[in-house]
Amino acid sequence: MKSLKSKLVIIGVGHVGSAVLNRAIAFQLANEIVLIDMDEKKAFGEALDSSHATPCNYSQNINVHIGDYSECKDAGVIIIAAGPSIMPGENLDRLVLAERNIAVIHDIMPQITHYTKDAVIIMITNPLDVTTYCAAKCFDYPENRLFGTGTTLETLRFKRIIANHYNVDAKDVQGYMLGEHGNSAFPAWSLLNIGGIPADQLDNFFNKSESLDRQEVAKAVVQVAYDVLNCKGYTNTGIAMGACRLAKAVLGNERSILPVSTPLKGEYGLTNVALSLPSLISENGIERRFEVNLPTDELEKLHFSANSIKGVLLANKL
Ligand code: 2OP
Repeated sequence: MKSLKSKLVIIGVGHVGSAVLNRAIAFQLANEIVLIDMDEKKAFGEALDSSHATPCNYSQNINVHIGDYSECKDAGVIIIAAGPSIMPGENLDRLVLAERNIAVIHDIMPQITHYTKDAVIIMITNPLDVTTYCAAKCFDYPENRLFGTGTTLETLRFKRIIANHYNVDAKDVQGYMLGEHGNSAFPAWSLLNIGGIPADQLDNFFNKSESLDRQEVAKAVVQVAYDVLNCKGYTNTGIAMGACRLAKAVLGNERSILPVSTPLKGEYGLTNVALSLPSLISENGIERRFEVNLPTDELEKLHFSANSIKGVLLANKL
């Protein structure tokens, strides 16, 4: 991989932030990685542990250390993974974290903006679309330079499930989960293809006697997050990979198209809400959102998703 000369700041080094750190080192995403956490001792431990991993990176010497918000001033990318996560249990919904994590964003954002408005901020903190909207709307940060990981993670899960079903490399599954990063995320079946074969021809093409149960797949993509959570207590590996994929698109100026969460500006008639649409990502952050043609049933799902996020935004006076 191309060596990227840049600085990555990770805010919050719990299960998710530390997994992001490990991925970022493995990917050689930056040559300096700064960890900021309220628990400085934990951050120091992560940095120290990482310093024992970086000698294995032969092409690039990565300096991992702890710091304060002044480190943001020359950062290329800032990843926010702070705040509590959902706990295993029943009736799971990321939206219950809104009040607590909006407060976390109100604590973090002014400290970032004090030092920079140049870095691209990637939000991970849940409920992702709510925290992204809050960070974008309540602080005067350049709008293209802030986005949430969004349904990048659901899209990875979707690709895995579809690839398993048709027994192909998941990287060759083209498609997106759209909407909320959460319970109302939905597969855009109209955009799915494998090697150019569209969704409605896949069963035939792969000689499947039973057709793919789309409702089951849509449910499974959402449920699998809770399966991981209930089994290991938290999710971190998939989201870390998704976040680092996005950071790489920024730091490498890749112009990649990935589904990330941003406040909408009239796409599909939607405003005053953040959710995920395929978006072109470069060193400038979001270059543009893709308002692709969606059939009526998918448009309805997008609006349903928008409304469930909006309900939480309004309840929290956003
Ligand atoms: C996930 O989907 C919980 O948002 C986290 O893995």
